[in-house]
Amino acid sequence: MKILVTGNLGYIGPAVLKALRVAYPSSELVGMDLGFFAHCFTGVPVSPDLVLDRQIYKDVRAITDSDLAGFDAVIQLAAVSNDPMGDKFAVVTDEINCQSSLKIARAAKRVGVKSYVFASSCSVYGAASKYPKKENDELNPLTAYAKSKIDTEIGLEQLAGDSFTITCLRFATACGFSARTRLDLVLNDFVAGAVSSGVIDILSDGTPWRPLIHIDDMARAIDWAVTRRASNGGDMLVVNAGSDEWNYQVKDLANAVAQVIPGTDVNLNLNAVPDKRSYQVDFGKFRILAPNHQPEVSLLDAVRGLYKGLNDMNFSDKDFRTSQLIRLNTLNAHIVSGRLSSGLTWQEKFL
Ligand SMILES: NC(=O)c1ccc[n+]([C@@H]2O[C@H](COP(=O)([O-])OP(=O)(O)OC[C@H]3O[C@@H](n4cnc5c(N)ncnc54)[C@H](O)[C@@H]3O)[C@@H](O)[C@H]2O)c1
Repeated sequence: MKILVTGNLGYIGPAVLKALRVAYPSSELVGMDLGFFAHCFTGVPVSPDLVLDRQIYKDVRAITDSDLAGFDAVIQLAAVSNDPMGDKFAVVTDEINCQSSLKIARAAKRVGVKSYVFASSCSVYGAASKYPKKENDELNPLTAYAKSKIDTEIGLEQLAGDSFTITCLRFATACGFSARTRLDLVLNDFVAGAVSSGVIDILSDGTPWRPLIHIDDMARAIDWAVTRRASNGGDMLVVNAGSDEWNYQVKDLANAVAQVIPGTDVNLNLNAVPDKRSYQVDFGKFRILAPNHQPEVSLLDAVRGLYKGLNDMNFSDKDFRTSQLIRLNTLNAHIVSGRLSSGLTWQEKFL
């Protein structure tokens, strides 16, 4: 089998590559990425990208049929991948996350790729409701990022079929230690705060609900989706990827961190404006369709993994929220230095 993973040089990519290499040892694995964060290793003795057969440094906005010819599966991770970056680069977010994902899917279908896996997001649900959100519930995208994911899912619907299987995995918020760990994710931020200063500063009153998933469990879901048959979920499948047990209130996450890292103080911001991005998600459909690829990592183990990883790299930066471990800061630094344009293309003279 020949698999293309776009956006592999980010936070989730290393976990995905590792899982694919284990699941399909003799497959040909190819990565395609622009490399915004390629240099952002955290505490690894060896590059996680060595499991690849080939790395292509290319903008997915410029992908062609010939780039995709011969592949059996395409996994589309490449994206402007969170709300703060999406807010700052709204037009580019639509170009990369939505237009390019659709362009790739159309080209993949044309050249005979069988399986297309799209990394969507539970952020499409957006706002509070009493009940955990199911796939067919009303969507409420609050950000350019969330909108780009919905627009892609809608566009993909028309392409599935004729031996072209599409799986949109609506992932919960990621967490966990990666070879390219980022700290702009709620649980990672909390552990970083506890390790560096013994304090978790919660930006809200702690009550918002946030479904989470460990990156290894995201990789497990992607492994499932790559070889999923159309008879299991249809040619076009949109499915929440995560587990019901991982619907947490933000204060529960902080308490789990404090349990693993004794002496941690948890500060709530009781005067915070209510966080609109509060939702629970129903993962029942995923449980039925992918019984052998269900999330396995526990919350405490996710915290322990982050704690160990950060300690191993002697992490102590109390100001990490202004550091390069926040993706928006890395993009801004590229732009300020003149390496990257505001349209997120590399400036040739710096390459
Ligand atoms: N992290 C989460 O909480 C989460 C949750 C749900 C879904 N997702 C989705 O999973 C995917 C991977 O997330 P991540 O956390 O690893 O993101 P990331 O930002 O760490 O990595 C994304 C990668 O895409 C690459 N990229 C961006 N634009 C590109 C372009 N035009 N051409 C080629 N490469 C490009 C970047 O260089 C980067 O390596 C994204 O689609 C994201 O939206 C992430």
